[in-house]
Amino acid sequence: MLEIKNLKAGYNGKAVIDLSNFSLPKGKHCLILGPSGSGKTTLLYSIAGLLQPFSGEVLIDNTDVVSLRGSERDAFRGRNIGIIYQTLHMIPALSLLDNILLAPYAAGAPKDIKRAEKLLEDMGLQGSIHKKPHELSQGQQQRAAIARTVFCKPKIVLGGEPTSALDDGFCALVMKLLLDSAEKAGASLVIATHDHRIKKYFTKVITLGAVK
Ligand SMILES: Nc1ncnc2c1ncn2[C@@H]1O[C@H](COP(=O)(O)OP(=O)(O)O)[C@@H](O)[C@H]1O
Ligand SMILES: [Mg+2]
Repeated sequence: MLEIKNLKAGYNGKAVIDLSNFSLPKGKHCLILGPSGSGKTTLLYSIAGLLQPFSGEVLIDNTDVVSLRGSERDAFRGRNIGIIYQTLHMIPALSLLDNILLAPYAAGAPKDIKRAEKLLEDMGLQGSIHKKPHELSQGQQQRAAIARTVFCKPKIVLGGEPTSALDDGFCALVMKLLLDSAEKAGASLVIATHDHRIKKYFTKVITLGAVK
């Protein structure tokens, strides 16, 4: 479960995020809504431990990400947090399959090629498993990036606009896969978006206002 307490985060001494209390029970999902520049990415990065907040706590299963240091925080992120980046961070020289297998392999997990292939097939990418990211459309790359995140079975999946490049059919498919994989793993989805099509899947919402 995710708990945020008195979180202040921003840049150059100026707070963008000021969130006194938020909690998301295990397996529940939450949407972060707000106009461009309102701090959605700042909040996601604070939860992921990729940005050091000014103050406050971000507890994931009772571990405070904010107070973890260096390699400890990286290891915690690797084990517990999956991130679907807005810029997808696919490795251009590797096939989709190898993009998915890289992180778990680097972390010492066995190469589960069958499960990776199955996940790409579930995402409608059966014909593209051995293609490089640049050979695919933006929507296809986005689905591959989601498969890569889900593959590692994180406790919490953070996403910035994961459905924005997808047409209605694939938007529904990706949401179904995200929700199904989260349910199987008892994981929570925390998704920042402008995409009103996916509002209906979420019961909890954090609304960020324009930054003054
Ligand atoms: N690295 C940075 N350095 C300074 N200011 C930043 C940085 N990243 C974001 N900001 C500022 O913080 C505010 C929130 O940005 P961001 O979290 O990216 O918003 P959103 O994701 O909602 O569009 C914006 O005013 C933006 O200009
Ligand atoms: Mg953003």
